[in-house]
Amino acid sequence: MITEHAPAKINLFLHVGDRRTDGFHPLQSLAVFTALGDALAMEAGPDLSLAVDGPFARGLDGEGDNLVLRAARALGQQGARLTLTKNLPVASGIGGGSADAAAALRGLNRLWELGKDDAALTELGAGLGSDIPACVMSAPCFMEGRGELLRRAESMPCLPILLVNPGVAVPTKDVFAALETRSGVEMVLPRGRFSDTADLLRFLETTRNDLEAPARRIQPVISEVLAAMGALAGALLVRMSGSGATCFGIFADEDCCQRAADVLRQSHPDWWVSPTLVPESGIVHEAPGQDIGPTPDGL
Ligand code: C5P
Repeated sequence: MITEHAPAKINLFLHVGDRRTDGFHPLQSLAVFTALGDALAMEAGPDLSLAVDGPFARGLDGEGDNLVLRAARALGQQGARLTLTKNLPVASGIGGGSADAAAALRGLNRLWELGKDDAALTELGAGLGSDIPACVMSAPCFMEGRGELLRRAESMPCLPILLVNPGVAVPTKDVFAALETRSGVEMVLPRGRFSDTADLLRFLETTRNDLEAPARRIQPVISEVLAAMGALAGALLVRMSGSGATCFGIFADEDCCQRAADVLRQSHPDWWVSPTLVPESGIVHEAPGQDIGPTPDGL
């Protein structure tokens, strides 16, 4: 049995350009991945089958051809018994379905011993959905093109994050269709060597999520979520992720984030409120006592 974690994807910013002739929009984004996610368990079996459990399993009821099964078929015609534990709200801008499909590509590649490298899995994923290549990578990365051109951010500090979803689904297609103001995709992207939260915030303050305004028009409750989150103690940046409706807050520390979650759960018991974190990556820490001065001759 193989289990793959399918972390939630957060677009820390998302800039959009003019619609292309293929109907997609070029974008620039910085995606990060949280400790919280769905889980996909896979074991060998004669046929391909998928069972879904977890708190958001009902969100997938009636969905004929789950993205996980499409990913499995794109990889090969073999059998496997898959169990998806759905912890993330469905169609909510944090890449749940894309993360699940990416987990299927990674896990079945191992289970079926196909030996495909990340580039091959990413290419297969790109054919299934714009966010899937980034979810295959599942590490902080800049996204360009329609989402398939990826460059890893060099380092990312640990970010205490609060995810909040008011329980409304906003179809990605509708949000793109309602887009009026675009930032364009001409920004020169940085190397992404963010050494601490202040450093990251300085960059994020020059950016925004272009899909936030159209999503707020379609579902005004998103404005309510952003206002409520922005008023919480320790909230450093509050924004919508992807095409919504999930919003995220970056908090000063984990305690603030947990307290903010408690406050929101009290005031809005019908909202999904989940504190989590983006794990630190790529930061080189100097070990204490390393600086011992000049080495004696001959050593
Ligand atoms: O690729 P995915 O299935 O996630 O896209 C869903 C819809 O979102 C597309 O059909 C398209 O209308 C819109 N989209 C877009 N530009 C992108 C990504 C998605 O217009 N870069």
